[in-house]
Amino acid sequence: MESGAEYGENAVSLSIRHSAECFPNRSQSTMCGIVAYIGHREAAPILLEGLKRLEYRGYDSAGVAVLDEGRDSAEALDLVKSVGRVRVLEEAIEQHGGLSGSIGIAHTRWATHGGVTQANAHPHRDDVSLGHGIAIIHNGIIENYQSLRTWLTEKGHVFESETDTEVLVHLIGELYDGDLEHAVQNALREVEGAYAIAVICRREPGVMVVARKGSPLLVGVGSDEYVVASDQSAIVAHTNQAFTLDDYTVAKLTRDSFRTSTVDDVEISAKVHKLEVEIEQIELGDYEHYMLKEIFEQPRALRTCIQGRIDHRAGQVRLGGVNDFGRELARAKRMIFVGQGTALNAAMIGEYLMEDLAKIPTDVEFASEFRYRNPIVEEGSVVVAISQSGETADTLAAVEEARQKGAMGLGVVNVVGSTISRETDAGVYLRVGPEIGVASTKAFVGQVMVNALLATFIGRRRFLSQEQVNTLLEEMSAIPDKIERVLEQSESIRDATARFIGRENWLFLGRGVNYPVAMEGALKLKEISYIHAEGMPAAEMKHGPIALIDDGMPVVFIATRNSQYDKVVSNIEEVRSRGGHVIAVATEGDHEISRLCEAVFHVPDVIEPLQPLVSVIPLQLLAYHAAVLRGKDVDKPRNLAKSVTVE
Ligand code: G6P
Repeated sequence: MESGAEYGENAVSLSIRHSAECFPNRSQSTMCGIVAYIGHREAAPILLEGLKRLEYRGYDSAGVAVLDEGRDSAEALDLVKSVGRVRVLEEAIEQHGGLSGSIGIAHTRWATHGGVTQANAHPHRDDVSLGHGIAIIHNGIIENYQSLRTWLTEKGHVFESETDTEVLVHLIGELYDGDLEHAVQNALREVEGAYAIAVICRREPGVMVVARKGSPLLVGVGSDEYVVASDQSAIVAHTNQAFTLDDYTVAKLTRDSFRTSTVDDVEISAKVHKLEVEIEQIELGDYEHYMLKEIFEQPRALRTCIQGRIDHRAGQVRLGGVNDFGRELARAKRMIFVGQGTALNAAMIGEYLMEDLAKIPTDVEFASEFRYRNPIVEEGSVVVAISQSGETADTLAAVEEARQKGAMGLGVVNVVGSTISRETDAGVYLRVGPEIGVASTKAFVGQVMVNALLATFIGRRRFLSQEQVNTLLEEMSAIPDKIERVLEQSESIRDATARFIGRENWLFLGRGVNYPVAMEGALKLKEISYIHAEGMPAAEMKHGPIALIDDGMPVVFIATRNSQYDKVVSNIEEVRSRGGHVIAVATEGDHEISRLCEAVFHVPDVIEPLQPLVSVIPLQLLAYHAAVLRGKDVDKPRNLAKSVTVE
């Protein structure tokens, strides 16, 4: 893995902003995966393989449409949809007698509005009797679809589904006059909302039109072929060259050329760039699950994350994406960290780091709560959005809320070119590589590491001495090797987990910087093994949860040697005396704690602010092994999506 892009580097050449509409209401946008192909090869296998690569995003139905130029025009557009996994769709295609043609579109849908039905699954077609044989796949929401539907119904259109997407394709059909590109542009000028779409038409079999506003879309550029997808994982098997569409732009693709324009048909240029991801990074390799692969990738991912950013000789942190903002950040009066899920737990650690190292008053907020609270954002505030995907709807809206009120927006994001990275003033990429497992692991340690780098970067411009910075840099650089030592214990962690696998309720407790680690440990366990687990500050236990502790409840303590160690040990005694089974994460060499616990996972000694980077590792492994021992589908946990683009 090479060290990757810096914030600001990946913007396409022309950025079109309709400022008032930059953040459409994404509240109802659907969370989908889209793949499209135009070229000289059979489309169906490429589309299905692409859909499988996007399975990790979460979905409940899927569909494919393929254009066969060799067939009689009326039957040239063929379409198969099904409820359930992509393999169900594959079977449906087989029963259908296959799909032939070298241009096609495919989709995985995660239902939010409108049931999980075959009719609601994409692709959708324009009106069967009035239409021109146009098919569409769409990720997003057309907010004014009701009024458009009424207008189209008056014109004689008959709809087969309840979806906004079908309204959009009927609108395109209504405006079609022999030029698909213009029909799409004209239709998009009429719609409000968010979209990433790919459209094909049997009357123009060598053309595909794609467009984007507010939902992710990437166009992979091959040799006389294009692969379009929601993210790069569905593209890299075919090409490592791609361009991103900016909001309000449309691309017309033929097999050997492309033209990009605005929805007002002003021609613009698109910059083709090299994708950051290599195919090996998204392959499972010898691992049984992506989650395990990503847990074991953490040392390497963090080496890439810090590479070129820690300068031991100069005793400095260098962060390309924020270097120009050093003074502004050092003068910040308040930092507000926002995120959801695992990113929120990393944000909580960010709060500790920012207050401890940079001495800036910091709050951490669920993005979903912050955005609707009419929050007070004073001058000099910096909002820090933590997000693996860079697409989480609530996090995006929280940043926008704070920026509207004058805050500077900073992104701590993994996916290069994602919406949050484009809608913030500056930021730092995690550079941990693509994360496929729904349960976030390497992104979490990347987020914590970047928070530590940021806090050191700002802290040095405020109160940190050179000596303190040198210590931090040394400790940060040593983390990858230390994580490797923890990973060696995977087998023994599995054996210990097996002893408690029948228990349905678990507590995770920690103090200080390890309290968010307790939260993260509980989240990991419930996400993939469906065991009920709660994380909380260890001191909070006495205010209620202690009533739950009886003979048999596993209680996991994060009890590494630090300023609060003695207090944590007292809490362990309290649990023991009530019959709870104590499992601890403790510092190497701490043998005394073993006499109080039924299982101890040791982690190397690390300075207190960085302890989460090692103390979380045994908890990730515990959750992983618990899920496997319970026979759960680790990489596709029920009801969860990797990227939550709905609120
Ligand atoms: C989903 C994922 C979580 C993730 C959260 C925030 O719930 O399942 O693993 O932590 O979204 O996602 P983000 O991409 O913003 O980090």
